[in-house]
Amino acid sequence: MADDLNAERIEAAVTGTFGTSLRYADEIGSTNTEALDWAANGAPEGSVVTSDHQTGGRGRWGRTWFSAPGKLLQFSLILRPDLEPSRHGLLTAGLGVASARAVTDVTGLPVSVKWPNDLVIEGRKLAGMLVETAMERDRIATAVCGIGINVHLDEADLPEELRDSATSLAIEGERAGRKIALDRSELLARILAEIERRYDAMKGTGSDELLAEATELSAVLGREVVIRFADGTTIEGRARGFDRDAALLLEAPGGTRPIHVGEIEQLRPVRDVL
Ligand code: BTN
Repeated sequence: MADDLNAERIEAAVTGTFGTSLRYADEIGSTNTEALDWAANGAPEGSVVTSDHQTGGRGRWGRTWFSAPGKLLQFSLILRPDLEPSRHGLLTAGLGVASARAVTDVTGLPVSVKWPNDLVIEGRKLAGMLVETAMERDRIATAVCGIGINVHLDEADLPEELRDSATSLAIEGERAGRKIALDRSELLARILAEIERRYDAMKGTGSDELLAEATELSAVLGREVVIRFADGTTIEGRARGFDRDAALLLEAPGGTRPIHVGEIEQLRPVRDVL
């Protein structure tokens, strides 16, 4: 099914503005790197870079991102949000909710969002997001929103070290006892439409509904978590909700505080409360 992602198919499937300006390559280093370059050279808002395979896919915090030809949906969307930096969580929340909804609509699989940047199915990672920004006059002028979704990967396609923690739509379909016939171009178009529908909310206008969706789709709220920060320190507590900027409200010794940037290192099951 490696011919399900190409420029012609995407152009035919796109329904809104996002994605009408498009760069497709059979192989690329990183769609985010290409999109950052294109954005710096005047790409219009809503431009998309996608590829059948990345040879240098980048993850968060300097990690690499696994790719295999024909198996993933990997793309970068260029936005010009003009947003206060403290509100960047709204962008990630919007991307996560929009992508989760699109995947569930198309496949029927129960996708949830593991704050801040992952999509998961029953605890296994289905997708990751990497948002890279460029500032102008102390505001986020450009956001390159990179999303990678494991679509057609079989168990055997996954590197050994990812087999326990990662999944794909094909693997989950198999688990659910059905084959998921999925066209990556159509999935991309659906995700772009869902993002576009929420874009005002992602820019901070009328964000209540988006925050309600983020709450509903969260894999994290109510759970005890260990959050790791970029400097290697950690904090433990219970994830209680999201504030108006989509920062995670963590109940920890000393009080409840908003966490804007971090990564969940451990997600513990809810303990029975006696
Ligand atoms: C993570 O889980 O650490 C984030 C992974 C982000 C991967 C996507 S794939 C499309 C875009 N291009 C990249 O090089 N990275 C992002």
